[in-house]
Amino acid sequence: MLTIENLSVRYGGIEALNKVSIEVRQGESVLLVGSNGAGKSSLINAVIGLVPAASGRIVFDGKDLAGTSCPVRARLGIGYSPEGRRVFRSLTVTENVLSGTLGTPMAEAKANLEWIQDTFPLLRERANQPANQLSGGQQQIVAIARAVSTMPKLLLLDEPFLGLAPVWIGHISDAIRELQRRGTTILMTEQMARPALKLVDRAYVIRGGEVRRSGTVDEIRDVALAEEYL
Ligand SMILES: Nc1ncnc2c1ncn2[C@@H]1O[C@H](COP(=O)(O)OP(=O)(O)O)[C@@H](O)[C@H]1O
Ligand SMILES: [Mg+2]
Repeated sequence: MLTIENLSVRYGGIEALNKVSIEVRQGESVLLVGSNGAGKSSLINAVIGLVPAASGRIVFDGKDLAGTSCPVRARLGIGYSPEGRRVFRSLTVTENVLSGTLGTPMAEAKANLEWIQDTFPLLRERANQPANQLSGGQQQIVAIARAVSTMPKLLLLDEPFLGLAPVWIGHISDAIRELQRRGTTILMTEQMARPALKLVDRAYVIRGGEVRRSGTVDEIRDVALAEEYL
């Protein structure tokens, strides 16, 4: 579903990614694990189109994404939940979720909202509350809900556990499992290898902008856990 070939990303003189190749197949969940500054967000942001690729290819659903804008990539079926659970603080929970569906016909957006509220009951309980009144974990649920509000084929999750207490890491994990049950293909990043490895089929260990190892969770576990403590 997603093929990344020899992707390099640069910020001025800084090389954030150097010839990274990654594959995500339909129905799979894949983890990109690495410490702070490894290049995880650069990869996610290159896939959604927030940063340009210096070289390499990103192919989604058979289409080369070169030259396509973020909104076009979203319409092609890529959902994106950014690092730092960004929500619109003064908008209500429902408004936040619906903000992801801009450009979608109203009837379809409403149907999607129902589906998401069924999946994450918190969204109904807190529907009319401004997002800034929610806890960090609750805001992360809202950010993920917004990312899936267009029913994406591929969901990009950038560090969904960042800064969350263990109990909320558990709740977010449950939310991700629910999306997996409903057939969503996922590419997620994490520094916290231990809880993240429980959610995925395969993982890539990334350090200094390069893929160091890749494999199934069993093959990669020891290397990924060592990376957590670097
Ligand atoms: N906008 C930017 N301008 C300059 N350097 C950046 C920018 N964003 C990230 N970097 C640098 O690129 C490297 C990779 O960063 P990033 O992709 O954010 O890593 P991660 O998400 O794994 O923490 C780091 O050295 C970081 O300092
Ligand atoms: Mg990051």
